[in-house]
This record gives sequence, structure tokens and C-alpha cells, in this order.
Amino acid sequence: MTRTVAIVTGGSRGIGRAVVDRLIRRGHAVVFTYTSDESGADEVLADAASSGAEVLPLRCDVTDADAPQRIVAAAEELGNLTVLVNNAGITGPIGPLRTVTDATVARVIDVNLTATIRLCRAVVTRWEAQERRDDRSIVNVTSIAARTGAPGEYVWYAASKAGVEALTVGLAKEVAANGVRVNAVSPGTTLTTIHARAGRPDRAAEVGARTPLGRAGSPDEIAAAVEWLTTSDAGYVTGAIVDVTGGIR
Ligand SMILES: NC(=O)c1ccc[n+]([C@@H]2O[C@H](COP(=O)([O-])OP(=O)(O)OC[C@H]3O[C@@H](n4cnc5c(N)ncnc54)[C@H](OP(=O)(O)O)[C@@H]3O)[C@@H](O)[C@H]2O)c1
Repeated sequence: MTRTVAIVTGGSRGIGRAVVDRLIRRGHAVVFTYTSDESGADEVLADAASSGAEVLPLRCDVTDADAPQRIVAAAEELGNLTVLVNNAGITGPIGPLRTVTDATVARVIDVNLTATIRLCRAVVTRWEAQERRDDRSIVNVTSIAARTGAPGEYVWYAASKAGVEALTVGLAKEVAANGVRVNAVSPGTTLTTIHARAGRPDRAAEVGARTPLGRAGSPDEIAAAVEWLTTSDAGYVTGAIVDVTGGIR
């Protein structure tokens, strides 16, 4: 039987890395992307090698013109592509809208939304050209910011994630007849390096303390929901946005 393959964008650290770990344990071969985090990618690869799993790190910016074709081709080299997790995401520096540059807005929309749309298009186009199977699914990693709007922090990022949620709902209906499920996981504040990159390393702990559960989430707690959505246990779930937010709505 041909091995199943999952694509995870942004798999070198944080939530994406936890997703890679879980999909490996589920028996998928995994292709993951990153742009510059060589040491993170090497660690994921070393962990995978020690467990005998097949993992291919692909140094590839998801916004590159040829990224969708490269990523899908790499996955199909490994086996039967059945899972796509669009996880790579950036916020830009924290601040009110008046402080954001055009370049940051363009980059955030490009990485979070446009690249997700383009990779979804490449994958569903491949699946439509092949025989139907019922274990194909896409999981988009969005953010509770899509609904809170993230005022004073990064409303442009929130807007990009609202776009990802609309994409999820619409594409789910569009491809359902072909047996493909499309869902999203909406994390709340999670302990990753994204906050330091946005200029506030302590943000996750501070915001987490104000959630109903009183703490930030771990990458693995987010990855657990992503993994579930890829399985047959979620076989009747499509077009859903699953909140993993410690109770923030
Ligand atoms: N952490 C949170 O509190 C939180 C909350 C809600 C939603 N989310 C969402 O969860 C997802 C993962 O976030 P995270 O916190 O795990 O982030 P992270 O720790 O910064 O990791 C991001 C990953 O994406 C890769 N990446 C970034 N830009 C890329 C690009 N253009 N092309 C390919 N790979 C790229 C990074 O590698 P390189 O640096 O090498 O590119 C890294 O592997 C994002 O979509 C984020 O918006 C996070």
C-alpha cells in the first residue's frame, strides 16, 4: 500500500512542529516548509530519523511563485498526498494600525492568506485529477484574532486570518462532493516564538493569564485538534472552525 503524505507549512518550530510530530506518529510521511530556521528544521529531522519516520524539510518561502508546485511535487515523491496543514503565519510588529507599514501589511496578507489560497488551489487541483478517496483533508491554522480583531496589536493580522476562515468555509462546500474535508483550528494565545518576533516575548504568558483557563496553550494542545481533524473520527466535520483558546471567544 502506498504511504500517505502530509504537508505542513511552517514545521520547524512552534505549532507546526507539534503538528509534524503528531502526523508522523499517525504514520504519515511529512513534508514541512520553513524559510530560514535551519536549526529548528535539523532538530525535527533528527527526531524523525530516530523514530524511523520519513520527513522532508523543504526550505521554501510559501509566498514564492513556484512554492505550491514545489511543495506538492515534493510530497508526491514520498507517496500519496492526503493531508495539507496550512500553518505558516506571521504577525508583523505589535502596535496600533497607524504604526504598520505598507510592506508589513503586504507581507502578512501574502504569507497568511494569499499563500494559503494558492497552496489549497494546487492541492485540490491535484486531488480532483485523481481517483476519489475519503481520507483527504485540509486544516488551516487561523487565530481567535479573526474574531476579536486584535485591537492595538495587529488588526491587519486579524483581517488576514478572517480571510483564512472565509476560505475554509467556502472551500469546504466547494470540494465536499469530492470527499475532501476542509477545516480550521483557531488557536488562542500559545507559547511559541511568534510573540518575541512581534516584539513582546512575554505576551503569551500575560494574555494567557487573562483567559478563562488562566494560562496560554501549548503547541501540542493546538496540534491535537489539527490531528483530530485529519482523522476519520472527524469524518463528518467540514467547514468547521475549531476553537482551542482556553475559553476566549
Ligand atoms: N502562537 C500563538 O499564540 C498563535 C495564536 C493564534 C494563531 N497562531 C497561528 O499559528 C500558526 C503557527 O504560529 P507559531 O506561533 O507556531 O509561529 P512560529 O513559532 O513563529 O513558527 C512559524 C513557523 O512558520 C515558518 N514560516 C514563517 N513564515 C514562513 C514562510 N513565508 N514560508 C514558509 N514557512 C514560514 C517558520 O520558519 P522560518 O522562520 O524559517 O520561516 C516557523 O517554522 C500561525 O499561522 C499563527 O498565525 C499562533
